[in-house]
Amino acid sequence: MSDQVTIFDTTLRDGEQAPGISLDVAEKLEIAEQLSRLGVDIIEAGFPVASVGEFEAVQAIARSVGGPVIAGLSRTQRADVDRCWEAVRDADRARIHIFISTSPSHMEHMLKMTAAQVVAETRSGVSRAREHTTDVEFSPQDATRTPLDFMLEVLQTAVEAGATTLNIPDTVGYGIPWDFGDLIAHVRKSIPGDYVISTHCHNDLGLAVANSLAGVKAGARQVEVCVNGLGERAGNAALEEVVMALAIRPDQFDGLGTAVRSEELAKTSRLVSRLTGYPLQYNKAVVGRNAFAHESGIHQHGVLAERSTYEIIDAASVGQQGSQIVLGKHSGRHAFGDTLAKMGLSIHGDALNSAFTRFKELADRKVTLTEADLEAIVAEELGTSVEAEFALESLEVVGGTVGVPRASVVVSRAGTKSEATAEGDGMIDAACQAIRAATGVEGSLTGFNVSSVTGGVDALGDVVVQLQAGELRVSGRGVSTDVVEASARAYLNATNRVVRALARNERRRTEVGP
Ligand code: KIV
Ligand code: ZN
Repeated sequence: MSDQVTIFDTTLRDGEQAPGISLDVAEKLEIAEQLSRLGVDIIEAGFPVASVGEFEAVQAIARSVGGPVIAGLSRTQRADVDRCWEAVRDADRARIHIFISTSPSHMEHMLKMTAAQVVAETRSGVSRAREHTTDVEFSPQDATRTPLDFMLEVLQTAVEAGATTLNIPDTVGYGIPWDFGDLIAHVRKSIPGDYVISTHCHNDLGLAVANSLAGVKAGARQVEVCVNGLGERAGNAALEEVVMALAIRPDQFDGLGTAVRSEELAKTSRLVSRLTGYPLQYNKAVVGRNAFAHESGIHQHGVLAERSTYEIIDAASVGQQGSQIVLGKHSGRHAFGDTLAKMGLSIHGDALNSAFTRFKELADRKVTLTEADLEAIVAEELGTSVEAEFALESLEVVGGTVGVPRASVVVSRAGTKSEATAEGDGMIDAACQAIRAATGVEGSLTGFNVSSVTGGVDALGDVVVQLQAGELRVSGRGVSTDVVEASARAYLNATNRVVRALARNERRRTEVGP
């Protein structure tokens, strides 16, 4: 057995299934590139058959992100498998991940298949995948609620058909660590063959990380995880927690390690939080803002005297050494571009120009900008293309406890300005209504989150919104020293995404149309 645990990241597939998350291709690419810098072994980039957009995102990642194996998820049907292969085939190393439900409840209510049909589907799906690639993973969905004998029969079939990784999903988070560990050990013992055994644990009982680690202890050599523990319902096992548990307690895992560069964990967590709009709880293990904060005098005294008195992890080893001051209002374009490059942020062309302009505006209002501030600015500008999109020229708001809040905005697009004034329930609502009127793009806010980029009263406000426009659901981000302005920017950012998506759909329609 290998002395490394393979980290299979499914943030872009299972993580994106978390309610309200909708990433566009540029955002998925940005996350995939960061996952590659982080050093994960495998990126599950998506479920290609789900939609054209999903297919395109998986294909774009397979074509441009080097390093990790790029995997796509597929049901057992031949058409699904072929579509999945089409999406991942251009990767340096590609994997097809086949799944089918095996629990009585799923077979009866969802698949409407008999046990014999599920076995036959497993054989045909995995065999078809093997015609495309030698790297095939198989998952019996809802494994922890599947009768053991039947699960073993399905897994045996998958191995005979050529599966090289057997993944055991605790789809509904039903597992208890020692029981789940026994299950993994039993599979290992009962199914002969040359395959890697993997865990995929959901967090419905808050046990996803514990169950994954129990699986490793019992012989699993791949763990499926998501950054920040994102995923369906209560989420998946958190990547950063599994990785650091293995790093801090090798004594408990026979010296097993991972290839993850832990110094990239905090940055990866911030990027995913910002792009998904899922805020990170302050006391989140490893990457939370308070993970290295000490409140009580006794603790502070201890840590100042010797860090290890109250800390088992060195903050620097997970990239949490505190936000460094990096640039101020005297910094020029060269220093700006240089710093972004050193931070591993890739941004070019129009987006780089707009980011630099925003940086200058903010640096004029705030004395210094930290790495985290720069990440937020770049995140706001990512994917923008100046000529086709609305830019915020000015915003004026009045509000308070007397009178109706009112906002006036001027936006420009390709050199043409339009302005509008609107009233709202509050200043933020008024600003969004005014933008809606000035752009003519309809949509309703389905999510709104405001946080500060760094601590302190002079911190930048970072706003993420979710906007529903007809069938489209997009997110938008904005940063500013002022929360109302940050909200307006986030709303406009989301509006631009709607405009872009509509243009893309229109292009597709005319390409395929009569
Ligand atoms: O939770 C689950 O069962 C899954 C499978 C598709 C692996 O996500
Ligand atoms: Zn899952």
